[in-house]
Amino acid sequence: MAKSSLGDSALRWKRYYRWTSKRPPRDLLLQTLNHVEWEGTRARGRLAIELGFGAGTDTLELLRRGWSVVAVDGQESAATILAKRVPPRWRPRLTILVGPMEELQLPRADLVYASFSLPFCRPERFPELWSTIRSSLQGGGHFAGQLFGDQDEWHGERPFSFHSRREVVRLCRGWKVEMLRETVEEGRSFEGPKHWHFFDLILEQPPTRKAPGQGPRDPKSSKS
Ligand SMILES: C[S@@+](CC[C@H](N)C(=O)[O-])C[C@H]1O[C@@H](n2cnc3c(N)ncnc32)[C@H](O)[C@@H]1O
Repeated sequence: MAKSSLGDSALRWKRYYRWTSKRPPRDLLLQTLNHVEWEGTRARGRLAIELGFGAGTDTLELLRRGWSVVAVDGQESAATILAKRVPPRWRPRLTILVGPMEELQLPRADLVYASFSLPFCRPERFPELWSTIRSSLQGGGHFAGQLFGDQDEWHGERPFSFHSRREVVRLCRGWKVEMLRETVEEGRSFEGPKHWHFFDLILEQPPTRKAPGQGPRDPKSSKS
């Protein structure tokens, strides 16, 4: 896989991993897994892709709950940290890929999870990445993650992807929207105080419809 274009910020990301490695799994992941489990989806044999796994805490939670995980990050240091953290008995269910998520061919999955990572995609690559995510999900599969809003403090300063509410609503077209939550708040990033504007999303890929005439016939409606 090609070398990450984020090489110049490698040190910054290492600091971020140190800052976040002790945190518990993210609420958005727990809410997504509760929802998926409530829908009756068993974790065993299910595949999740985590884009931008960082220090790896959420990948570890997926593994703990019995999922297989393809974990992707642009930073070698993230892969090194995750490889050290994963217990040997879970290792066979984990594939770690290092490289830009924009350049990946994703396998068919039941969940694509991207916690605070899609905004780091360059804006001109975002539409393609979004459609790759969408086409990697099975019918009934889920996407969960965040997008940065256009009122975020970093908007205009950094070459990341930001979206207005209207654009987020447009991206949700064709999905079943389980959660679209907008947050505007004064908070902190690992670099210090920050004005945040972001959207939490949990989206479900509608089940693929069978073409008329396909699938088992209902014997009661048979005319023959
Ligand atoms: C803000 S961190 C989030 C980490 C973790 N998901 C979390 O919630 O704490 C973003 C992560 O995405 C990764 N990342 C950023 N741009 C990327 C890209 N284009 N391809 C792959 N990974 C990328 C960074 O290396 C970093 O680990």
